[in-house]
Amino acid sequence: MNLILMGLPGAGKGTQAERIVDQFGFPHISTGDMFRQAIKDGTELGKKAKSFMDRGGLVPDEVTIGIVRERLGKDDCKEGFLLDGFPRTVLQAEALDAILAENNGEIDAVLYIDVNPENLLNRLTGRRVCANCGATYHLVYNPPKKEGVCDKCGGPLIQRADDRKETVHERLQVNIKQQQPLVSFYEKKHVLKKINGEQPIDEVFQDISSILGAMAK
Ligand code: AP5
Ligand code: MG
Ligand code: ZN
Repeated sequence: MNLILMGLPGAGKGTQAERIVDQFGFPHISTGDMFRQAIKDGTELGKKAKSFMDRGGLVPDEVTIGIVRERLGKDDCKEGFLLDGFPRTVLQAEALDAILAENNGEIDAVLYIDVNPENLLNRLTGRRVCANCGATYHLVYNPPKKEGVCDKCGGPLIQRADDRKETVHERLQVNIKQQQPLVSFYEKKHVLKKINGEQPIDEVFQDISSILGAMAK
């Protein structure tokens, strides 16, 4: 299955992706994670992306489309994939269609995790991520067993650079503006599956799991 996880910053894309990958085994392609890795590695891509990310803006379409095109060309994507945080603009969505069409592929479903923007600020400022394996936690909604330590690998938990209060506001505004045209784009294709993202994490996953289970039949 070719899947997209869509939702505003903090909606729970990464959190649900971890669970979907555990259960269904699709390769997880997060453009945000790819940019953060490039920044860590000090590559040209990282240098380009950093200035936009630090301000809470979007990395230019041509850069983002380029890395996704390359990633989708890898062998592990032949049986399907789970995109997280891409596409984020209609131009990216059109480019994705064109990339998939080269191999007669298309998007099977867009899992749209819907959360009222008012609830996202707390989720983002309270988020902590493992510096070692990338697992996601929340100080209140999903705390680790031991404070500051990753349950999965024992690595240290840190705050993402763009989760500071000053950046979060701009990030939300930028993404809210792009969201509606994208939702319409996929509604017209009849592939949009809206999920209530205000439920507890396990219940959101149950909803996703039943959608994917039904599709696999
Ligand atoms: P990216 O890393 O994708 O960030 P984002 O879209 O802002 O989304 P987040 O990762 O912040 O949120 P999430 O939905 O994954 O939430 P999570 O599961 O962690 O992108 C970063 C940047 O890279 C962008 O700002 C942009 O600059 C650039 N970029 C990336 N893709 C791009 C593109 N396509 N085009 C251009 N630029 C691009 O959950 C958040 C918190 O809430 C966690 O603490 C979690 O524990 C908690 N939580 C999750 N679910 C629940 C729940 N149901 N109830 C309570 N708490 C919950
Ligand atoms: Mg994420
Ligand atoms: Zn870890």
